[in-house]
Amino acid sequence: MYQGCKKYIPFQPVQLKDRQWPDKVITKAPVWCSVDLRDGNQALVTPMNLEEKLLFFKTLVDIGFKEIEVGFPSASETEYEILRTLIERDLIPDDVTIQVLVQARPHLIQKTFEAIRGAKNVIVHFYNSTSTLQRKVVFNTDMQGVIDIAVEGARLIRKLTEEEVARSGINIRYEYSPESFSGTEMDNAVEICDRVLEELGATLDNKVIINLPNTVEGSTPNCHADQIEYFCRHLKGRDSAIISLHAHNDRGCGVAATELGLMAGADRVEGTLFGNGERTGNADIMVIAMNMYSQGVDPELDFSNINHIKDVYESCTKMKVHERHPYAGELVFTAFSGSHQDAINKGVEYMAKSGTQYWEVPYLPIDPADVGRQYEPIIRINSQSGKGGAAFIMAQSFGYHLPKAMHPEFGAIVKAACDAEGRELQPQEIFDLFHKEYFEIKYPYHLKRYKLYEEHEGQDGETQVHFEGVLRFQNVDHEISGTGNGPIDAFFGALRSVGINEYKFVSYSEHAVSSGADSKALSYIQIRTPENKMVFGVGLDGNISLASIKGIICAINRACRT
Ligand code: KIV
Ligand code: ZN
Repeated sequence: MYQGCKKYIPFQPVQLKDRQWPDKVITKAPVWCSVDLRDGNQALVTPMNLEEKLLFFKTLVDIGFKEIEVGFPSASETEYEILRTLIERDLIPDDVTIQVLVQARPHLIQKTFEAIRGAKNVIVHFYNSTSTLQRKVVFNTDMQGVIDIAVEGARLIRKLTEEEVARSGINIRYEYSPESFSGTEMDNAVEICDRVLEELGATLDNKVIINLPNTVEGSTPNCHADQIEYFCRHLKGRDSAIISLHAHNDRGCGVAATELGLMAGADRVEGTLFGNGERTGNADIMVIAMNMYSQGVDPELDFSNINHIKDVYESCTKMKVHERHPYAGELVFTAFSGSHQDAINKGVEYMAKSGTQYWEVPYLPIDPADVGRQYEPIIRINSQSGKGGAAFIMAQSFGYHLPKAMHPEFGAIVKAACDAEGRELQPQEIFDLFHKEYFEIKYPYHLKRYKLYEEHEGQDGETQVHFEGVLRFQNVDHEISGTGNGPIDAFFGALRSVGINEYKFVSYSEHAVSSGADSKALSYIQIRTPENKMVFGVGLDGNISLASIKGIICAINRACRT
């Protein structure tokens, strides 16, 4: 028994029996607001310096964010300086609104208004905590005390805004967060937000953002969605409000809570790239956006170069994006398992053949090219990989199209090498294995010289191919000769002329490969051994007939070896 769990109070869900959100579908992008430079930055071991923040800001602008929370300018000199730099160096595009966070406390609000001077478009985001727990253990106050703080903050912000607008013509919008909204009684959350909307003079034409933080995620995402739907239904000033979500990820459901929150009626999403933020982080905006994208909805954010965004993120935050992170992780478009590799191959083939306009590849929820990852290997080879994986690499990376019947044979060779090494094999290593296995085998039979010529019988008669040559085996050179209807037939005839008649020809295929400037023929020959085993040989040569003959010798040498 894991008895410690008894000390936790289960989440009390809001009662909403006639909830509508489960039947809703997300069909359009919300208003996005990045809080990377604030919530994300305040949670870093080493917060970003000025240059890093400027680079991150530019990256967010390039992705397409129109609202970016740049910091908490009243909280630290660095944050203040960064905001001033963005404004004074004129680094904020006209269609981007910067957002600044401030506690609902008079002296901090004053300082925040000093910090935003000279900006064109600003959202002043103020907050105070409203949760049952915080009221009890932190503020030791009742709900009225908390409402008074918010309303007084709103009054001061409105007054300072009017003064600043008169002075500079700045465009200021308001955002209020009842911090720890999800831990607040819903009717209290509704009441405080309605009071704030009134105090700020919110109207249909002058909406105020009401941000509903899931400050500490404490329930399943459906309970969060119930809260959002309940709140939206009961807020008197709903039409004058933009409902914003701000989910943290304590239970690992920040993205899910946000998605269900959107279904429940929210208009706006705050979050961070790759889910950076306090503790387990904030909802990951990239994942939410790409999830929409994968459902055919334009997210209005551009992640088509995710590797670059990841590089900026990692260099600025000194955090690592996990290998399995959706859409961005190193391994998320990689298949090691044989059955997955096979299904991916078939999906790619199906798309090419059918000309479908849709993405229909099993195991790949989106086309890696859509996030700029088309040049990374999807199929990687370890001991879990199947027979088709190594053949795929040979085709993709080196233009060697092994016949299907040969896949199990070469797959087993690669698997044995992976097992022996105890690790993944790189494409070049797979190629080297192929080379060693099929091209370096020169024993016991070695063709020293040969001549092939054709003879035609009459005008429309059959063509006869003659093979003459010297084959070395048992340390002796043997003259061999044979005739057939093609070079393969003629060579088997020549082998028979010296008593080598136990290997039966089964199949042949060939294609051209270009190596450097010239193109060569690659022949795959399958033979049956006296023990009834199928063995392949491969020959590569500028002369197509010699490529086949080399393939036969290779197959026989391999058969002798086994
Ligand atoms: O998580 C939170 O509650 C916040 C607020 C300050 C909006 O970050
Ligand atoms: Zn937060």
